[in-house]
Amino acid sequence: MRIIAFYSPKGGVGKTAAAVNVAYLASRDNCRTLLWDLDPQGAASFYLSGAERVKGRKLSRLLEGKSPVSKFIEEEVYPGLDFIPAHSSFRNFDIKLENEADENALKDFLAPLSEETSLVVLDCPPTLSRLTEQVLSIADAIYVPVVPTWLSLNSWSQLQSFVKEKKSGRKKLRPFFSMVDRRKSLHREILTRGPELLDNRLELAVPYASAVERMGEAGLPLELLAPRTPAADVYRQMWKTIRQDLWGKQH
Ligand SMILES: Nc1ncnc2c1ncn2[C@@H]1O[C@H](COP(=O)(O)OP(=O)(O)OP(=O)(O)O)[C@@H](O)[C@H]1O
Ligand SMILES: [Mg+2]
Repeated sequence: MRIIAFYSPKGGVGKTAAAVNVAYLASRDNCRTLLWDLDPQGAASFYLSGAERVKGRKLSRLLEGKSPVSKFIEEEVYPGLDFIPAHSSFRNFDIKLENEADENALKDFLAPLSEETSLVVLDCPPTLSRLTEQVLSIADAIYVPVVPTWLSLNSWSQLQSFVKEKKSGRKKLRPFFSMVDRRKSLHREILTRGPELLDNRLELAVPYASAVERMGEAGLPLELLAPRTPAADVYRQMWKTIRQDLWGKQH
């Protein structure tokens, strides 16, 4: 079982859109996937609500060790794709983890799933917290959307420093350009400087696209909503790259 996260300390940069699209594409590729919406605001649930309106359960029982993680899973929201929806009680996750002696509490919750689940995709809230620290430490790779603006690049640098400080493995960080609008000269300029500005980046750029914007309203992954759009193509490329990051060419 591999664990990946979509994370950035910056809000509204395309984490959830990428997490949902990649999780869906993975499940379609014979890779049994669990998507866990760790954001109490629950945006991932919106993107999947076309499948079925799923309501999260209080996490306290999981955190207290009274219920196994399987009790929180909505199985097969699509074939091969399981989902843990957010619940407002996820706000307390951090407090609990703060008191938790175990550095790997999050990983321990997931351990019972390792037999049947090949990939866990964590959709993270845009905060730098105890929860984030655990995610950064347990994930095999962390995919970081970066909008081509100086402010967003600044958040990227902050994240790199944070990870370096915490020694959770800088090489695991894989940034990629997100919400790219090539009509903007700043976006074009930053994009051409990608190799220098974004260390270890994915060689793709998610375009700013109305089809992606419509995912929330339609409650569908892009592959079902608009598979022939350039953005859908980029997400397919993203999944291929991630698959290679995690398992190499043979998988
Ligand atoms: N490539 C894109 N093109 C156009 N709109 C996009 C794109 N990606 C995301 N959006 C829109 O931008 C908003 C934020 O996207 P998303 O929820 O994926 O970001 P996020 O980083 O997860 O945000 P948060 O930090 O709040 O969790 C949403 O309304 C979404 O529809
Ligand atoms: Mg989000």
